[in-house]
Amino acid sequence: MKQVDIIIADESHFKYSQEICDVISDSAKVRGTGIARRTPEYIHAKMENKNAIIALSGDRFAGFCYIEVWGHEKYVAHSGLIVHPDFRNQGLAKKIKEFTFNYSLKKYPASKVFGITTGLAVMKINSDLGYKPVTFSELTDDPKFWAGCKTCTNFDILTAKEYKMCLCTGMLYDPTKKLKKKEKWFNKKILKRLKNIKQTMITSNKQLLLWKK
Ligand SMILES: CC(C)(COP(=O)(O)OP(=O)(O)OC[C@H]1O[C@@H](n2cnc3c(N)ncnc32)[C@H](O)[C@@H]1OP(=O)(O)O)[C@@H](O)C(=O)NCCC(=O)NCCS
Repeated sequence: MKQVDIIIADESHFKYSQEICDVISDSAKVRGTGIARRTPEYIHAKMENKNAIIALSGDRFAGFCYIEVWGHEKYVAHSGLIVHPDFRNQGLAKKIKEFTFNYSLKKYPASKVFGITTGLAVMKINSDLGYKPVTFSELTDDPKFWAGCKTCTNFDILTAKEYKMCLCTGMLYDPTKKLKKKEKWFNKKILKRLKNIKQTMITSNKQLLLWKK
């Protein structure tokens, strides 16, 4: 793997924001799953507030992630994790997430850290960092966070389920409850199976609802 530097982004990285948005939206299309879309202006705001992490190989964009603060710093979320296709499967997402996690714990030491994801890679990385899977009721109830899901293709499922569940899995790291090593719960095969069951159940329910209308 070429040398990649992971740094806290600032105004000098605005020039990468369009490419970041494009790679996020192209990857969502390829995966065929929902994703909260972001605009370059949103990415700029994150960079200005020093709440964005960028990975660069020389001056090439390699990866990105940003921090969102919710409920007056009761929670922070690490969102928008993206690795450019040319840099995938080399451990970069894991490094970006670890960097973001450690930086965020320093910047917001009292905040619970959470994320919602359909991605097994992200579940694996989060699990290694000590996150636990939780129901949506344990995440922030800040409507602005959930409004971010409006651009996701699965938003009608989230609203039909009254924001209690969706295709994403909620994951939470509580800094006051550190996991012991033996408590690790991640099992790729089981999670993949659970994800498929959930997807089938929720989407067939959705079809039924549409059919009844
Ligand atoms: C998901 C993504 C960020 C992974 O980036 P990456 O740099 O290739 O990931 P890493 O190489 O750091 O892999 C981390 C772990 O996830 C696993 N992994 C990577 N891609 C995977 C996949 N598609 N399915 C299952 N596991 C995967 C790796 O094997 C690795 O596990 P290990 O620690 O046991 O070796 C990247 O594929 C991407 O940007 N995808 C599109 C956007 C996306 O899906 N973002 C997540 C939104 S929730």
